[in-house]
Amino acid sequence: MVSEFMARARLLLAEGIDDKSLNAVGRLLAEVSTEPDFIPQTEMRSLHGGDATSAVLQTDPDGLTLMLGSFSAKEETPVHNHNSWGIACVVQGVDRYRHWHHDDEGRLKILYEKELRPGSFVTWLDPPHDIHSQQGIGGPALELVLFGKNTMTIPRNYYNPETGEVRTALPQ
Ligand SMILES: [Fe+2]
Repeated sequence: MVSEFMARARLLLAEGIDDKSLNAVGRLLAEVSTEPDFIPQTEMRSLHGGDATSAVLQTDPDGLTLMLGSFSAKEETPVHNHNSWGIACVVQGVDRYRHWHHDDEGRLKILYEKELRPGSFVTWLDPPHDIHSQQGIGGPALELVLFGKNTMTIPRNYYNPETGEVRTALPQ
């Protein structure tokens, strides 16, 4: 159940947010996501103003928030951040996940790229380590994303890697 996962994740994160605790929660998320009926039937809304959609599955007063996202194969999401650490675990389809960072000259570059399949996950730390873009391969990629904050209520940045332009906006 989602509520059970949230309670167990909170315990794993109680000692602090670092690569180790985020990976432990990622492994837990990968495990529980295979339980039948873990993902409730839910209505998805447009995300980033494009073809990606999402729904909040649970958000708690301390900010811990689990979302379900669907990333289209038609277009890549804009390069964006969430102003929060996160864990993204694919449950269906294949996701081309790109993680971005600013190099020594301040230019936004791809730090790494991964093809995520069901059961595989990525984690990222708080800003400035939370910049990414995603696209389904061959069809939509469905994934669970856990955030440390309710990212649907806080502004995020959208980056244009070509021009360096950054736009700040609330989720649509
Ligand atoms: Fe994102």
